[in-house]
Amino acid sequence: MTELILALDLLDRKQAARVAESCAPFIDAVKVGYPLVLATGLSIVDDLSGLGLPLIADFKVADIPNTNRLISEAVFSAGFDAIIAHGFVGADAARACVEVAHNHGGAAYIVAEMSHPGATEFFHGGVAERLATLAVSCRADGIIAPATRPDRISRLREIVGEKTIYSPGVGAQGGDLDTVARLVDGVIVGRSIYEAEDPAAEAERLSRIRR
Ligand code: XMP
Repeated sequence: MTELILALDLLDRKQAARVAESCAPFIDAVKVGYPLVLATGLSIVDDLSGLGLPLIADFKVADIPNTNRLISEAVFSAGFDAIIAHGFVGADAARACVEVAHNHGGAAYIVAEMSHPGATEFFHGGVAERLATLAVSCRADGIIAPATRPDRISRLREIVGEKTIYSPGVGAQGGDLDTVARLVDGVIVGRSIYEAEDPAAEAERLSRIRR
């Protein structure tokens, strides 16, 4: 079954906790990014840890190896279970995130190609393929690939094999859940759920139509 991952890009701590709690029965993980963490601090992890779901830190870490290591240590010490990092900074920097993740018993995912229109300016022409290859060589647990371009997911699957592919871009960005769910291990959905009149009902609906 393809996982359903809630992208919790809300700015209000109580609302975020409320939405996550109501959706919890229908989702497999919660992804937290800069919007929520910058609004609430890393202690938001304490509010979400009671859900009993994996918490993914989407900080798209992209610095030198030492700084990546420091960021990753802070992420896992705060209680996150996984981290998303960029690969374009090079294998040494990406590997720093992977090593810290694994030392903490967690996971690290490398962005191979992004879902927004502008991503084609830089990720196409072989770059995404190189990033997926880098993810494999760094022993990352998987990659992030765009739900908005299923053909690209299929191409990147050829490179990463059985590794996990998590895919944002369903719903608000135009990606079709039914199509993408057949290709990936997890779909990441934000606005379609948390902006719905009844987020829990929408999460339940999406959880039923994923494969
Ligand atoms: P929406 O509201 O569009 O939220 O459903 C999508 C979530 O996923 C993040 N996002 C990405 N993360 N690579 C990533 O690592 C991507 O290509 C990508 N596209 C979207 C976005 O920040 C939001 O949290």
